[in-house]
Amino acid sequence: MAIILDGKALAEQTRQRIAQEVTTLSRQPGLAVILVGDDPASRLYVSNKEKDCAQCGFKSFEHRMAADTTEAELLALIAELNTNDDVDGILVQLPLPKHLNEEMVIQSIAPEKDVDAFHPYNVGRMSQGKPVFLPCTPAGVMAILKAYDIDVAGKDCVVIGRSNIVGKPMGMLLTQANGTVTICHSRTPNLAEYTKRADILVAAVGREGLVRADMVKEGAVVIDVAMNRNAAGKFCGDVDFEAVKAVASHITPVPGGVGPMTRALLLENILTAAKRK
Ligand code: GUN
Repeated sequence: MAIILDGKALAEQTRQRIAQEVTTLSRQPGLAVILVGDDPASRLYVSNKEKDCAQCGFKSFEHRMAADTTEAELLALIAELNTNDDVDGILVQLPLPKHLNEEMVIQSIAPEKDVDAFHPYNVGRMSQGKPVFLPCTPAGVMAILKAYDIDVAGKDCVVIGRSNIVGKPMGMLLTQANGTVTICHSRTPNLAEYTKRADILVAAVGREGLVRADMVKEGAVVIDVAMNRNAAGKFCGDVDFEAVKAVASHITPVPGGVGPMTRALLLENILTAAKRK
């Protein structure tokens, strides 16, 4: 039976370490969170991030904007936060309402305050192996692997999903850790042929039941990044957890695996931003 990779416990340890370090700083780190519209899932994510900040001794500044906010209004707020000395990190909760251009909004954030690491400057730095900030979800996965002494070097790593936020940067971080990486996606024929080779399998698609036990090699490390809701309304990942945990050596649960570590890595980035100032 697989070892369950406890992201929730690891995130708690990370927050406690950060809270300790904050007491040694001359000023409190600050995060500005911008939420446009009132999507309930986004509201929950934002309130969790604010709770995390409070636990670590960070200030957080919430900016709620109406769903019909114009691009000019949003860009004006970001411009003000870019020069506000109390603000070390700026996070614009995604997705934005359809009439707003996400790419333009992300590019308007000062790269040194881009704690999501979504700005092209930070993506470029990371892809060159000289990151300023690491993207939170892939870095959270790497932190889990490290905490459980799972060595990536020389391993066959298969990532399912090629998003800018998870799949692509996940592939880069695993490559930089000397894994041999294959990125699979919706146009990959015979997905199981690839997944069955994986020593480390990362699923980041958002489709319940995508990874079945017969697609996983005996003893593989299985990381489930997805957060789906099943027919009963409960959270689940892409991996058939109950069946796959009988095959894998290690597996992340959903919830309680990668999600809490994504939030913890955001805190790491805010601390990094504050210390660099
Ligand atoms: N929406 C879902 N995940 C994220 C995230 O990591 N950062 C931001 N800004 N928005 C999100």
